[in-house]
This record gives sequence, structure tokens and C-alpha cells, in this order.
Amino acid sequence: MRIKTKEEYDKAYKESVEDPEGFWAGVAQEFVWKKPWKKVLEWDFNDYDVKWFKGGKLNITESCLDRHAATKPNQPAIIWEPNDDSEEAITLTYSVLLDRVSRFANVLKKNGIVKGDRVCIYMPMIPELAIAVLACARLGAIHSVVFGGFSARAIADRINDSACKVVITTDGAVRGNKHIPMKETVDDALVSCTSVEKVIVATRTRTPVSMIKGRDVWWEEEVKHVSGDCPAEEMDAEDPLFILYTSGSTGKPKGVVHTCGGYMVYATYTFQNVFQYDPGDVYFCTADIGWITGHSYIVYGPLAAGAISVMFEGVPTYPDAGRFWDIIDKHKVNIFYTAPTAIRSLMGFGPEYYKDKDLSSLKVLGSVGEPINEEAWHWYNDEIGKGKCPIVDTWWQTETGGIMISPLANITKTIPSFATLPLPGIQPVLVDDQGNEITGNGVNGNLCIKFPWPSIIRTTWGDHQRCKDTYFSAYKGMYFTGDGCQRDENGYYKITGRVDDVINVSGHRIGTAEVENALNMHTGVVESAVVGFPHDIKGQGIYAYIICEEMPSDPEMTKKDILMTVSRIIGPIAKPDQIQFVTGLPKTRSGKIMRRILRKVAEKDVSNLGDISTLLDPGVVDEIIKGAGL
Ligand code: WTA
Repeated sequence: MRIKTKEEYDKAYKESVEDPEGFWAGVAQEFVWKKPWKKVLEWDFNDYDVKWFKGGKLNITESCLDRHAATKPNQPAIIWEPNDDSEEAITLTYSVLLDRVSRFANVLKKNGIVKGDRVCIYMPMIPELAIAVLACARLGAIHSVVFGGFSARAIADRINDSACKVVITTDGAVRGNKHIPMKETVDDALVSCTSVEKVIVATRTRTPVSMIKGRDVWWEEEVKHVSGDCPAEEMDAEDPLFILYTSGSTGKPKGVVHTCGGYMVYATYTFQNVFQYDPGDVYFCTADIGWITGHSYIVYGPLAAGAISVMFEGVPTYPDAGRFWDIIDKHKVNIFYTAPTAIRSLMGFGPEYYKDKDLSSLKVLGSVGEPINEEAWHWYNDEIGKGKCPIVDTWWQTETGGIMISPLANITKTIPSFATLPLPGIQPVLVDDQGNEITGNGVNGNLCIKFPWPSIIRTTWGDHQRCKDTYFSAYKGMYFTGDGCQRDENGYYKITGRVDDVINVSGHRIGTAEVENALNMHTGVVESAVVGFPHDIKGQGIYAYIICEEMPSDPEMTKKDILMTVSRIIGPIAKPDQIQFVTGLPKTRSGKIMRRILRKVAEKDVSNLGDISTLLDPGVVDEIIKGAGL
């Protein structure tokens, strides 16, 4: 399944379009199946339904663990680098990982978990997190990993949406020099969750925690009393593997559902080809497993490919801004995959943090999560890659399960800030606002995909209609990504950013509606409107316009209070960077907020506001501009 040349890419791409079933059947053969599939693909984008490898039976952990434990038991699967560099790194070989996953799967079983049950995982980046994820997969339990930075309220919403039966967490977490209470946050969440029967707590910080009799158990105690053998549950290719919540332009976050067969095939295929992973390479993805990048490219893809995957607990700036480079030096990392926000931030600290580090092991660099600006691209290329490591700028989404548009390292010619070409199996189209396909090169449009790939979102948990409405109704017969895109003269793709009301803050998707809901919960707040604005480090920042019952007498204090509310309702990542108090919002006569104007003010560019004559009260625009100090 490994493409080695541009000619092979062209050939694979052509075959994947002309004979998708034959193409993917060929790739899928290289995995462990308990029973072969009967039909490779059935699909309908109008009344959305997709089935890949119909009738096939498997357990993804057999491809990720058992087969490698049998052939190369002592090869590292995961190398774990702790937050504190004085603490020892831990290596889990394939045979040890299989043992620990099986053991923990037995713990879950003992605590009442059976195939199809939902399990919420709220943990820091420690090996137990990867073990918990894989243990769920072993039993066929559906994991829902919630990023460790979310608030109790956000956890509770996610637990309730999918009625999780068990929560797995830790006593506390360490990130940089911060101590973060994990169990306490879960306890707060569980006050409003009735579905949860058990909480399994792994020890990380020895922070005192309250353990509720009959509900809470310690990970370390539980694993002592179970066997290290656990048969892998037989799953249908289309049984759900996991739920991962992500923000959209409207309402509450939705639970994106991925299934076992197609996800396994696509995550692994893209991992091997995009990064050109060779056996023995050390691969380091800096994402958190709480996001899709961690699911597909720390856990499932690399492990199914039998790779050595580095997992890092801490932050790039602790103990100093050289930490990533130290890790590359220490573990002789060959392939490094990170986000533009991290690159921009580290770039700012200057060369003293990397000039004496040995980065010569590096072969391939990757970028994900947001558009990478040219300045960051060149710094990454020159200073980190020393001009000899191709940068794979990988465009994809939680919903796509795997990388969609990206160079293949050393195969595709790269251009700064271009995600370049679609992977085999991916058929991108650009459409105008009326839904007409824009053909030819040198064009811009809304990015859609017109043919299914194996790891396409199957549904949004508990609400299939929402999945249809969000992704398959904007443009008939196509999956709509929510991104704007340019196709240049050579057919290369450049993602230009979201065209909907989603803000990409440091590579994290945040819905404007979600932030507005949180702001509106603050006492005294009557109404709010949130937009994104360009931010040097984060890519985009959050700008909030807020109407209060009365203008705050101490605006700075009120701002702090409001930020506290947002942290409580969603989490610190959703805190606005800028708050402006206003007495009115620019609304059309039909009551719609004209966000275009708010975006312009937030960008500090009010030279061309466009037509504002349709506003109910054009006067508010002047007030907002003045209030912004422009
Ligand atoms: C953005 C992250 C430009 C895009 C894997 C997408 C990118 C959203 C890139 C998905 C890239 C991701 N260049 N933009 N290489 N990668 N994006 O679901 O707007 O957290 O729709 O998945 O991030 O974010 P998500």
C-alpha cells in the first residue's frame, strides 16, 4: 500500500477514481480481518448513508497490536516522554502494550462494560490514555475522548449526549508548571450525569481526590486482579469505533462517529504514505489524543502500521522553548508532526533554543490544523528541517478521519502554504455559493468532496438528520467541508480557511454560537456576537461584542468575570482575546447580525465596510468603530 514515486501516486490516484472498490479492497487486504467483507462500498450522498467493507468482521486492535506483538514483540510501539524532563521516559513495546491493553480491557469488562457501551475518557497525555482508548476498542466499547482542557460543564454535556456508562480519568495532571485537577473536574461534571456507573481513576500526581464508594475505583488496584489475556471482540466493519465531539457553526458540539473498518484502513494508509514511514523510523506527533489528530496519527494509524510513536505529556515551552527540539534530539525523531500555532510561537523565542540541538535525525516535517503562513513555513523548513526535510502540509478534519489533501513526503513537490494534491481516493471539487461546480484551474470556491472515502463521518451521534443537514445539504450530492479553497494553475490546492462561523484558535475549532451561548449565560449580559480575527500566534483569536443591561462601571473587572464564565461553561480555550462592550449590534431589518462588519472592526480595517444601508440602525456601526478605538 506504500506509494514510492510520483508515477505510483498518479497511478494509484487514477485507479482510486476509476475503480474505487478495487483500489480500496487492495489496501484493506493488508489488515487483519476476522471475516472478509462481502461488498466494498455502498453509498448515497443524497439520503446520506455510507458503508465500507460491508459484512467484514474485525477488531482494530488485532491490526494495531496482536500482529506486531507476534512478529516484533520487542519493538517500541509508544515512547512516552513525561512533562518533566527529569522524569524517565517510558517505552512500551508491542508485546507490553498488548498485555496492558488486554489487562485494562478486562478491567472495563469487570466494571460492566460490554460491546456498544460508551466510555468517556478524560485524561492527560500519559500512556494510560492510549491504553484506555485501545482497551475500549478491544471490547467494542465506543470511546469518547474529551480533551483535558474542557470544563466540567463541557464534559457533562458530552457524557450526557452519548450516555456514557464509565468515565476514565486521573487524579490530576501536569502541563508545564501547572497542576490540573482532573478527578475533581469529573466529580463536578458527574453531578449532572445519571448514566455514569463507574469512574476509573489512574494515578498521575498523587493529588488527594474524593473516591465515592461503589462508583470510583483505582486503575492500579483493578489491573492487579485481572488476566493479561482478553480476546478481541468481533466487530462489524460498520460498528462505531469512537465518538469525538467537535464544534460546528450552530448549536452544541456534535459527536462525530467513526466506524471500525474504513477508519482503520484510511488512517493507516494515509499515515504510511503522507509521512513515507519506513520500518524503524521514530515518529513524533505533538497533538493531544483529545483531538482527531491524536486519534488517527498518534494511536490508530501509527500502531496499525507497526510504527514507533512518541507521545509527549507536556507543552512546547516547558522547561523552556527548546523542549520539542530536545525530544527530537533525545529520541532521534525522524518524522515530526505539529501545528502552525506551535511553530509560530517557537519561532518567536529565537535561535538559542534550537541552535545547539542535534536535529539531524529529522527526515520529514508535518503541519496540521490550520493554514500555515509562509513565514512560519520557511522558518520550519530552514531552521528545523535545514532545507532537507519536505514539509507535508496536511489538510483534513475531525469528520474526514484522516488526511485528505497533502503532499506525500519526498514525492509531491511542495509549495509554501499549499496542501497540494488530494490523496488517492479523495475527489475534491470547488463550488460557488449557488452550488455550481467550478471547473478548471486558477479558481477559488467552497471545498466539497464528491465521492466517499473509507473514513468519512458516518453520522453524528444520536442525530443522523443533523449529520445530513450539516454536511450533505449545502451542496446536493456532495460532502461540504466548511472550508474555502483555491486551486492554482497547476491544480494544487490551498486551503484559505473556514467560510462558516467556526473559528480556528491555535488549531482548535470553536463555534461562534457556542461562545455566544456561554457569554449570554453571564449575569447582566443581554446579547453577544463573536467573530474571529487574525492573531499572530494563534492564527485566529476570538473577538466578542457584548451588550450588557447597563454599561459596566468597572469594565476590566466585568471582562474578567465574563472570561471566568466562559472557562466554566466551555473551557479556557474558548476565552475571548478581546471583549468590546457595545450598546447595539449591526442587525439587518430581519434581525440577522451582519458579522462581516464585526469582522472588519475586529481586524481593525474599516476602510471598506461595504453596503450597510440594509441595517436597521446604521448608527451602531459608528459607535462600534469608535468603541474599538479606530
Ligand atoms: C483547518 C484537524 C489549512 C480547516 C485535523 C479544517 C487546515 C479544520 C489544515 C478542521 C491545513 C486543518 N491547512 N487548514 N493543513 N488542517 N485545517 O476538525 O479549517 O480539528 O476544516 O481537524 O482545521 O479542524 P479539526
